[in-house]
Amino acid sequence: MEKTIKSRITLNDDVEIPYLGLGTWLSRGRDCRQAVKYALEYGYDHVDTAQAYDNENEVGDGWKDSGRSRDELFITTKIRNSNQGFERSKQSLTRSLQALQTEYVDLLLIHWPDVNNFERTIQTWRALIKLREEGLCRSIGVSNFTIRLLDKLLEEIDVVPAVNQVEFHTFLFQKELMEYCQGKRIQIEAYSPIARAKFLDNDQIQRIAKKYHKTPAQVMLAWCVNHDLVVIPKTVHKDRIEENADIFFELDDDDMKALNKLGPETRLVQISEAPPSW
Ligand SMILES: NC(=O)c1ccc[n+]([C@@H]2O[C@H](COP(=O)([O-])OP(=O)(O)OC[C@H]3O[C@@H](n4cnc5c(N)ncnc54)[C@H](OP(=O)(O)O)[C@@H]3O)[C@@H](O)[C@H]2O)c1
Repeated sequence: MEKTIKSRITLNDDVEIPYLGLGTWLSRGRDCRQAVKYALEYGYDHVDTAQAYDNENEVGDGWKDSGRSRDELFITTKIRNSNQGFERSKQSLTRSLQALQTEYVDLLLIHWPDVNNFERTIQTWRALIKLREEGLCRSIGVSNFTIRLLDKLLEEIDVVPAVNQVEFHTFLFQKELMEYCQGKRIQIEAYSPIARAKFLDNDQIQRIAKKYHKTPAQVMLAWCVNHDLVVIPKTVHKDRIEENADIFFELDDDDMKALNKLGPETRLVQISEAPPSW
């Protein structure tokens, strides 16, 4: 069946996540509030924020302004590094919920693994499991986890994250990680899915965009959705909020293959690797 802006994918805990969400990193103040309001009015059901983005209040105000009913929406936040640990992460969620003006979030993520003190990240994961039991979040997951870090987490606790939110775009096709996550039913959420608009003039992307009568950003987002990934493009502009939602079209096999091997491989966000001693 053809996907639409309303399409959702079922996570390993049976919660359904919309394929499309609005990213909000660097979205601040009035711009953030208005972007969230407009996206929700336009038909987005999903917003991605984080304690570290310093905009949970504005995201909360934006969804209130939209008049949308809470149970139609999917709101994600993330535990910032300084709030990791069992007690701190629990307390920090209470503050996030107040800022977001909601009684629960749909998805709670560990924003970054603490590779220098992984025990702290394990304690954070235990806290997330407890918070889900208490009904303060519906789903729990991680972000910026490599295969090695996921293995390490699962060696300690056998509760599989529902989501791994990682950088993923046509210039960073993380095939091995994608296949590993598929094998464990961990849904990849693609962040920076249009590579922060840095390569929209790429020849192949331009060629494919012309062929489908779409824009380069739409092609990059469609490529993720065609790989069955959730995408969370960020913009504060109404026209781009609309543009970034018109991404539910099929790319043919040749175009998918061409986009899979687009180079040069570019990682925009440096991640923490596991120490070599592991
Ligand atoms: N978990 C993590 O560690 C992590 C890390 C990074 C990002 N994220 C999440 O993922 C979201 C998306 O990633 P991102 O913000 O890094 O990058 P992105 O969504 O790939 O790109 C955002 C940039 O592209 C511009 N843009 C948006 N739509 C456009 C379009 N149709 N045409 C041209 N330019 C466009 C935006 O500018 P305007 O706003 O001016 O339109 C902004 O500068 C974040 O906002 C955040 O929610 C998570």
